[in-house]
Amino acid sequence: MTTTEAPANSGYAGGVARLYDLVHQGKGKDYAREATDLAALIASRAPGARSLLDVACGTGLHLEHLNGAFDRVEGVEFSSDMRDIAVRRNPNVPVHLGDMRDFTLDTAFSAVTCMFSSIGHMRDQAELDAALARFAAHLEPGGVVVVEPWWFPATFTPGFVGASITEAEGKTISRVSHSRLESGATRIDVHYLIAEPGQDITHLSETHLITLFTRDAYERAFARAGLAVEFQEGGPSGRGLFIGTRE
Ligand SMILES: C[S@@+](CC[C@H](N)C(=O)[O-])C[C@H]1O[C@@H](n2cnc3c(N)ncnc32)[C@H](O)[C@@H]1O
Repeated sequence: MTTTEAPANSGYAGGVARLYDLVHQGKGKDYAREATDLAALIASRAPGARSLLDVACGTGLHLEHLNGAFDRVEGVEFSSDMRDIAVRRNPNVPVHLGDMRDFTLDTAFSAVTCMFSSIGHMRDQAELDAALARFAAHLEPGGVVVVEPWWFPATFTPGFVGASITEAEGKTISRVSHSRLESGATRIDVHYLIAEPGQDITHLSETHLITLFTRDAYERAFARAGLAVEFQEGGPSGRGLFIGTRE
């Protein structure tokens, strides 16, 4: 598998990768419920779907819960630290190190998913088109592509400040984020303070640039990949879901 230039703020490395699950589940993200809903959505569009590829699978929490619903599940992930966690969590699931813009696997799937706005790491329409083309290239006839987008320009709130405190595994983690508009993208600065009894408090930070594609831009990318697309409001995070089927 080849990997081209890193996407802007590919991030998700080291200590931040290790905090990822604690922080997001601590904020109430329910991967088990999301996986159940996703499997039902896929079954409604591709009855008899047997296999699933989760692209940008992160730490493999959706894969863990989707594993029982399909005969075969696999993942693709760009960050080796996130992938390592996914592999440890799902020892029997192939998780490929790869880039959604150019990965090639030797097999196709009934469903290809890309969740929690990972698609927003694409920097422009050409990268968005490339990712959708790769998703479509790995789809069996009659299969379905599900993409959870980032906010659209019209639904994003610049200046949003998020804050959470999570207590888990003997750690107390406070996370504060600030999102602003920067050249057609959301720039999210995130700071973490991590406290554990008997240890110095540590500080980690990360910045992500997540592109604010319009709904049209997503729909263009699906169409260029030969997929008929519908948009469903709501979805796991309130940002909606795009559902593509082969035309
Ligand atoms: C917000 S996380 C979502 C992870 C997972 N899907 C979830 O629901 O928890 C975004 C993920 O996208 C991955 N990513 C970013 N750019 C990527 C690319 N070009 N190809 C594949 N994965 C990428 C990151 O490494 C990270 O794991």
